[in-house]
Amino acid sequence: CMPGSPRAGTGRVVSPAPPCPLFPQECLNRQQALSVVRQMQKLLVAQEAAHLRGMRGLRHQLSLLQKTCPQLAVPLNGRMLGRSLRVGHEVHFVCDSGFRLLGSETRACRHNRTWSGTQPFCRSMDDCSSNPCANSGTCVDGNQSYTCLCPPGWSGPNCQSPIYSCSAWPYWVTLSNTSFSRQPRCAEGRSGSRRCSCDTGFQLRAGGVCQDVDECQLYQSSPQTRICLHDCLNLPGSYRCLCPPGYLLHADRNACEDVNECAGKQHNCTQGDLCINTFGGHRCVHPKCPLPRHNTSYVKTSAFQCERNPCPMDSRACQLAANSISFHYLPLQANRTVPRVLFKMSTTRFLGDSLRFTITGGRGQGVFAVRRSDRQTGELLLTSPVAGPATLEVELEMSEFSHKVLLGKHIFKVTAFVSPYVF
Ligand SMILES: *[C@@H]1O[C@H](CO)[C@@H](O)[C@H](O)[C@H]1NC(C)=O
Ligand SMILES: *[C@@H]1O[C@H](CO)[C@@H](O)[C@H](O)[C@H]1NC(C)=O
Ligand SMILES: *[C@@H]1O[C@H](CO)[C@@H](O)[C@H](O)[C@H]1NC(C)=O
Ligand SMILES: *[C@@H]1O[C@H](CO)[C@@H](O)[C@H](O)[C@H]1NC(C)=O
Ligand SMILES: *[C@@H]1O[C@H](CO)[C@@H](O)[C@H](O)[C@H]1NC(C)=O
Ligand SMILES: *[C@@H]1O[C@H](CO)[C@@H](O)[C@H](O)[C@H]1NC(C)=O
Repeated sequence: CMPGSPRAGTGRVVSPAPPCPLFPQECLNRQQALSVVRQMQKLLVAQEAAHLRGMRGLRHQLSLLQKTCPQLAVPLNGRMLGRSLRVGHEVHFVCDSGFRLLGSETRACRHNRTWSGTQPFCRSMDDCSSNPCANSGTCVDGNQSYTCLCPPGWSGPNCQSPIYSCSAWPYWVTLSNTSFSRQPRCAEGRSGSRRCSCDTGFQLRAGGVCQDVDECQLYQSSPQTRICLHDCLNLPGSYRCLCPPGYLLHADRNACEDVNECAGKQHNCTQGDLCINTFGGHRCVHPKCPLPRHNTSYVKTSAFQCERNPCPMDSRACQLAANSISFHYLPLQANRTVPRVLFKMSTTRFLGDSLRFTITGGRGQGVFAVRRSDRQTGELLLTSPVAGPATLEVELEMSEFSHKVLLGKHIFKVTAFVSPYVF
């Protein structure tokens, strides 16, 4: 097909010549054409690779733009809450019931596309369930972990280390019921492991002995947790509340109840004395009327009351003396809250138009006050707390007036017996 040069030796003139191709220099033979095609193929493959690289780069750029953290593993026996893996977001982990989360409960996707915290795991609450104690050791479930109580001859956290010793001590010392230490009750579990528990009121301690819980030391010292109103006695496995003399332990087993010695004839008051029950004890009293003086005399009208005898006609001293004197005995607990009304007084035969109340004497004046509560009644108040034991006395006067003229006076002699205790 070469132009202008018909092939020699053909004996034939080809005329006119066919039009020439654009690249007239080479007329490729079959092998040449094949190599050209191969080169083209290589070129295309290289181009494709470059293209793929470019795509990968683009995808990488895109993910950087999206800013996500790598996918997280969901813990076995647990769940992951929150699906977003984007920067600034958080995921939370929870464990199924019976399992405890170890590791981070919450993990946040940080700006450098890493997660904060550590991979969480859900661990069985029952640490002993994996039978971690070797050589027939006893597993005791703890708060964060378990403890192995090792049989003689073995030691180490999992009873895995043998102890070489010449003397073999008995594993359990025999402990009596009345002791503050007892041996635990143990049961063989699956695969030969032993599990032990203590009687109520006892706690398994290092060494495998059940040690009494000192409830008194644990609870009695703080007012918020006190178990006994008064005193506490620790017993093996339990405790007992104690009350001071004069009290009995209440049926609820922690409060103290006052014993009424007067009702129970447990008093030593002599004939003629009056027995007054107080908190934690009793008193024998003998109210006496004043001796006759200045033409004034009194007569006992009841165990706790004296009335004035009629006055001689012209005895002013007698007429100014009190018409009645009464005695009042008040048992009180220590440190009662104040103000507190202890006692009310009034007259049964009110003839005048006004009553006046005053404190006229007594050693306990400082903690008492008197006030009118209505037209015909006054009351005695305790105004500050009294730390017992104490005996306080106060004398009150109630005067009756009519048009500002004194009609009569009544005296109240009050004695308060304050307990040494707040009960
Ligand atoms: C990512 O950033 C945190 C602090 O925000 C840093 O503690 C951590 O080492 C960083 N991780 C990497 C892989 O750079
Ligand atoms: C058990 O663990 C909790 C939380 O860590 C702790 O408050 C508690 O005091 C622990 N109890 C005992 C008996 O160690
Ligand atoms: C110890 O207590 C158990 C039951 O708590 C009882 O069976 C046993 O007889 C008691 N032993 C003694 C010595 O009191
Ligand atoms: C009762 O007798 C005892 C001594 O036997 C004595 O200490 C106490 O003061 C007496 N009580 C009264 C109220 O007399
Ligand atoms: C006692 O009464 C008599 C008259 O009965 C009188 O003379 C005397 O002054 C009175 N004494 C006093 C202290 O009032
Ligand atoms: C009463 O209160 C006082 C002062 O607060 C205190 O010292 C005292 O111990 C208390 N008495 C009783 C029996 O609680």
